[in-house]
Amino acid sequence: MKFFIDTANLAQIKEAQEMGVLDGVTTNPSLMAKEGIKGQDNILKHYVDICNLVTGDVSAEVISTDFEGMVREGEALAELHPQIVVKIPMIKDGIRAIKYFTEKGIKTNCTLVFSAGQALLAAKAGATYMSPFIGRLDDVSTDGLRLIEDIRLIYDNYGFETQILAASVRHPMHIIECARIGADVATCPLSAITALLKHPLTDSGLAQFLADAKK
Ligand code: E4P
Repeated sequence: MKFFIDTANLAQIKEAQEMGVLDGVTTNPSLMAKEGIKGQDNILKHYVDICNLVTGDVSAEVISTDFEGMVREGEALAELHPQIVVKIPMIKDGIRAIKYFTEKGIKTNCTLVFSAGQALLAAKAGATYMSPFIGRLDDVSTDGLRLIEDIRLIYDNYGFETQILAASVRHPMHIIECARIGADVATCPLSAITALLKHPLTDSGLAQFLADAKK
């Protein structure tokens, strides 16, 4: 399973990259705003800065909601850097835009997916990635991981190549369960990735080894 980091924070992206386990980055307008990135030129520059920090795919989201606007924005984003993946919302014009970009050989990430039907449409349009938001489903008492299971089954039934990119990941068990189910990618906050490191027996075992090494 690929690990993407879900942030626009350059320090956190660098930290994950230096661990050697990072396969890409996802951003969204909220994450960019959280870093105080304002104005079109600064936003575009920030995407390039992220691409220069990592080796994998970097999702950059369009903010238009009509087909022509998404195409215009997406083409400009794709021209920024070869690692850019155009992130497009799961709406009718978004599906049309995904189909358009797929035919042009531009990678896409269909975002804001909350149902198996939406996931099926994204795959039919040829999305490179499709992002079900599991944490936000859990927040409204709906099983986000069950949705990943359903989509895995549907995609495998028909051999769809669209990658399941589990998003809105909140904690390490989300990552572990996504890996068990067979999600292709999990995009996670840095805290969820580093939480995978933790085990009290590792801590106590290491303390014992270091103490014994002094003897
Ligand atoms: C990723 O592509 C999504 O934008 C992100 O995972 C949403 O996460 P949130 O529900 O924590 O905002």
